[in-house]
Amino acid sequence: MIKTETKDRVLRIEIARPEKKNALTQEMYAAMADALAHADDDANVRVVLIHGARDCFTAGNDLKDFLNRPPHTETSPTTRFLRGIANFGKPLLAAVNGPAVGIGTTMLLHCDLVYAAPGARFQMPFVPLGLVPEAGSSFLLPYIAGYQRAAELLLLGQPFDADKAYAAGFVTSIVPEKELFEGARAGALAIAALPPAAVRATKALMRSRFGPRVNEAMTEEGKVFSERLTSPEAREAMTAFFEKRKPDFSRF
Ligand code: COA
Repeated sequence: MIKTETKDRVLRIEIARPEKKNALTQEMYAAMADALAHADDDANVRVVLIHGARDCFTAGNDLKDFLNRPPHTETSPTTRFLRGIANFGKPLLAAVNGPAVGIGTTMLLHCDLVYAAPGARFQMPFVPLGLVPEAGSSFLLPYIAGYQRAAELLLLGQPFDADKAYAAGFVTSIVPEKELFEGARAGALAIAALPPAAVRATKALMRSRFGPRVNEAMTEEGKVFSERLTSPEAREAMTAFFEKRKPDFSRF
């Protein structure tokens, strides 16, 4: 489930489904998309901070949802959430420890400040799952990290640590685990204390060049992603996860 709280002009969005490693269902995306849409219009909110549990950010999209629900469309809760973070006008912060898989990593590419603990474990396993990158990451990651660094992370889809994420450019700072949430909250409060219109105008200026390209990339990715979701490759990869075995791609 998703918990939200607004305090001291900071909206906290907490991903809380510990029994499934905070895997995100359609209902959870819808709740986050609604919270962001509301926050953009709410003068009481100046900053949004997204986090999971102290030891787990999110295992990404719920793989049962991927298997059982219809492909993503432009109006699906996932897409609404992704468009929401890509086009959000106020600063977005994230605090990450433990697994940050799939969208758990790609949503960070849209954040303005990302705090990670040394135990954070990032992964974009789209290719190993028979899928393609989403959330505009096929454009954003090469843009942020440089082509070869992005290619390694997206083509191989293997887990990597906070140092590598910092080197790739999408982690702002690595914070000791015990100070992670407090440090992120201090960052959020510091931004919330600044002149809000200047903050929003600065973010809009920084994003005005590449923002439209992120949206274009999302549209293109969405089409291929939907096709891939029902592919035999994806079915084999996801079924293997739940059967706790290695997938076999030798017959494709
Ligand atoms: N969707 C649905 N269920 C998930 C899930 C996901 N993305 N990630 C984890 N779970 C469930 C597991 O099936 C397991 O459920 P069970 O207790 O009913 O068997 C439970 O959460 C705990 O997961 P487990 O794999 O035992 O935890 P772990 O600590 O060994 O590993 C992860 C954690 C995140 C590394 C691992 O769960 C994982 O790789 N998950 C899949 C991530 C993924 O591919 N996401 C999609 C990206 S596009």
